Amino acid sequence: MKVIRIVAWAAVVAVAVFLLAQRFATSREAGDRLGGDFTLTSNTGEKVSNRDFRGRYMLIYFGYSFCPDVCPLELAKMTLGLNELEKEGYNTTPLQPIFISIDPERDTVSALDDYVQDFHPRLVALTGTLEEIQDVAKKYRVYFKKRKQDGVEGYLMDHQSFIFVMGPDGDYVRLFSAKDKPEDIASAFRPVLEKTR
Ligand code: NI
Repeated sequence: MKVIRIVAWAAVVAVAVFLLAQRFATSREAGDRLGGDFTLTSNTGEKVSNRDFRGRYMLIYFGYSFCPDVCPLELAKMTLGLNELEKEGYNTTPLQPIFISIDPERDTVSALDDYVQDFHPRLVALTGTLEEIQDVAKKYRVYFKKRKQDGVEGYLMDHQSFIFVMGPDGDYVRLFSAKDKPEDIASAFRPVLEKTR
């Protein structure tokens, strides 16, 4: 009898944990109130607001140009996903790749203008004051922190790595994480794009 009771309780607990995890996952997925207004400075020195991209999908990645590994990989992934669609004849102008620096101290307008050359030709890189960056990172719930490390000149930035997709109305659509590949980005957007040839 006792064993059955323990098993029954364990099952109840397991179901409760599962439901809780599910709920957490959906709220993360649905991105309740994720995103919001920002006005930052682009790699060409212009003031740019999220509202300038209305009618297009924003693919937003938060990172920093000194990042030795993750940022270039994720920006290359975004570029390759768009390149794939372009090779297939799709017009990708409804997709706007955006890089937001979480290291405004080093990511000046000119540093970012150099950096974007390595990626998609329409990539817009944004920087701002530390306050402006903290504000936008908070709206997207992106954690970042400066970290000193031996053997590294200056400092590194710890940061979360997601590509956020915001829809033409500015609302959160989905995110891509490290496990997604360029092909996953391409297949997500094929249905909403038009072929030009
Ligand atoms: Ni990085």
